[in-house]
Amino acid sequence: MVKVVSVHSFRGGTGKSNTTANLAATVARHGKRVGIVDTDIQSPGIHVLFGFDESHMNLALNDYLWGRCSVEEAAYDVSHVLHETGAAGSAIYLIPSSLKAGEIARVLREGYDVGLLNDGFQGLIQQLNLDFLFIDTHPGLNEETLLSITISDVLLLIMRPDRQDFQGTAVTVDIARRLEVPKMLLMVNKALSSFDFAALKSEVEATYGVPVASILPLTEEMIQLGSSDIFSLRFPDHPLTQIYAHIANLLLD
Ligand SMILES: Nc1ncnc2c1ncn2[C@@H]1O[C@H](COP(=O)(O)OP(=O)(O)OP(=O)(O)O)[C@@H](O)[C@H]1O
Ligand SMILES: [Mg+2]
Repeated sequence: MVKVVSVHSFRGGTGKSNTTANLAATVARHGKRVGIVDTDIQSPGIHVLFGFDESHMNLALNDYLWGRCSVEEAAYDVSHVLHETGAAGSAIYLIPSSLKAGEIARVLREGYDVGLLNDGFQGLIQQLNLDFLFIDTHPGLNEETLLSITISDVLLLIMRPDRQDFQGTAVTVDIARRLEVPKMLLMVNKALSSFDFAALKSEVEATYGVPVASILPLTEEMIQLGSSDIFSLRFPDHPLTQIYAHIANLLLD
């Protein structure tokens, strides 16, 4: 059975794309077939972490949503990022969103059929025989985010230790409960190492009544990497990589 995992946050810049890429790569290394869809159509970016050359992006999710191609035609095999460190059967497919200004403007102007996005997810799962589908979302609550939450088996909500994030996450948790997401996990990212991680975890869990998968420290090497690579593959022995492995195990369970 496929598992659909949406990675979301109410506010931007929390680490959704980096988390999605790292969890997808970690899960894939266990011999899983993994798809990643960039539903952040307004401000796409996860392809950058896979070293994806935009000039080779002939077809994107946008083309599928405009009826120009089938969804699997917009899927790119990016398994080479694993450098054969994955178990037999490992595969990662990326469905990027277009960076062309005209394509983005059209979505913002005209919208698109969100039902088609759902059909696209189902098509990918079947055609690519996926074990996992990761959905990297646009921050905040919009139609495609609501759809992604609705169809998810797991919703991973990311927040920073910041009052604005706390409030926005409360709204999102409330909506996800109403949409009856089977499993919700919180992740606190960019915590200063001087913080009391155990106390922060307890506080967040008590506030939302949702388990915290992990608290991730603000990590200098991640900032240095600047989305040029997938952290856990570049730094296999780093403590942050072990945290990604822990969260990946929760998804694999
Ligand atoms: N634990 C961390 N420590 C330090 N920097 C981090 C950490 N996690 C993410 N970052 C950095 O934060 C920035 C934003 O990360 P990312 O693009 O993954 O966030 P996002 O939530 O997808 O953003 P957007 O809402 O714009 O899509 C990146 O520069 C990334 O390197
Ligand atoms: Mg992002």
